[in-house]
Amino acid sequence: MDAISVIRTKRDRGELTPEQIDWVIDAYTRGEVADEQMSALAMAILLNGMNRAEIARWTAAMIASGERMDFSSLSRPTADKHSTGGVGDKITLPLAPLVAACGAAVPQLSGRGLGHTGGTLDKLESIPGWRALLSNEEMLHVLDTTGAVICAAGDGLAPADKKLYALRDVTGTVEAIPLIASSIMSKKIAEGTGSLVLDVKVGSGAFMKNIDDARELASTMVGLGTDHGVKTVALLTDMSTPLGLTAGNALEVRESVEVLAGGGPADVVELTIALAREMLDAAGVKDADPAKALADGSAMDVWRRMIAAQGGDPDATLPVAREQHVVTAPESGVLTRLDAYDVGVAAWRLGAGRARKEDPVQAGAGVELHAKPGDTVTAGQPLMTLHTDTPEKFDYALKSLEGSWDIAAAGTSFTPKPIVLDRIA
Ligand code: URA
Repeated sequence: MDAISVIRTKRDRGELTPEQIDWVIDAYTRGEVADEQMSALAMAILLNGMNRAEIARWTAAMIASGERMDFSSLSRPTADKHSTGGVGDKITLPLAPLVAACGAAVPQLSGRGLGHTGGTLDKLESIPGWRALLSNEEMLHVLDTTGAVICAAGDGLAPADKKLYALRDVTGTVEAIPLIASSIMSKKIAEGTGSLVLDVKVGSGAFMKNIDDARELASTMVGLGTDHGVKTVALLTDMSTPLGLTAGNALEVRESVEVLAGGGPADVVELTIALAREMLDAAGVKDADPAKALADGSAMDVWRRMIAAQGGDPDATLPVAREQHVVTAPESGVLTRLDAYDVGVAAWRLGAGRARKEDPVQAGAGVELHAKPGDTVTAGQPLMTLHTDTPEKFDYALKSLEGSWDIAAAGTSFTPKPIVLDRIA
């Protein structure tokens, strides 16, 4: 077996054999296949695709590249959620303790933001003392004692994906459905959850800009999970406008705590409850009411225990950026569009995100929205507040917001998009 013949097979639109796939993933993980060879193969896959059998084998080979976790010692069924990434998508923060409060165990391995999308670990790290890096034993202990854990995936989990994802990121090969599906599902299957709910985002602020691509990605991932014995369901959800009223690390933690306290923006509450119902159903937990667990404070209790178990102080004051800049509505009328991607880029430019994996993020930076599509606005009223520790970035952030909203004449009727667009099981 050699790398060149594997690359040629895919370059010439052939089907990779199971032996070719097993060999190339293993040899790449061990360093025998070079980065330039793997990037040529990734580009051939992006251009020529893979069929379901190839994707299944590719995923299995990435799982086999590392360890598998085992939660069978837990007394509760496990349920996990994975979002394909968006702007203002803080749902994991209220969702994990909420589902735990309803009776499932939630092992939530999460990631960091890159580019315009935020990362759950960056958000939680704005809580003083909170630690993302746990050993497998610590993870199991937090899960067992609090019902939920949100932490970084250890180095031993799907190491082939870690290497390949970093390579795809710098070779223009992220946006290939077979590679995205196998990347996400190899980590989730290796993590050992019994059930999984996928939140596949659709719209300007998501990887998948249109619903057909999102459906294909979702059904590929549902098929992979099901084949590996993980009960998997996907919701396709709107990401044409930011979720909630904040995009940025500490800003999103604050909003999540509002949701756990029984308040918070309606769209965040609606999606949190919809995903919680799917997770509880997939885990086989009957008769639990997530809306009640938000209202009666039981989800908040789990949140406080979960944060404290990872070194965080749930009562600590969250960091606030040193400087603010208010953007006002240029005219009166009805806000009919507010673009998720543009707001995400603004938050990123203000310091909430990173350009390279090793860059630090600012805890307080981001965008706070004062109006959402459907709201009536008056000329001169605040539309959004930009937050940063580095005010020289305001102009750069404002550039990304040029043309990012529409205001129609007062009285224009507006039909909001549903948050959940489709369900694939
Ligand atoms: N998230 C992942 O983990 N992998 C991808 O390829 C894309 C999003």
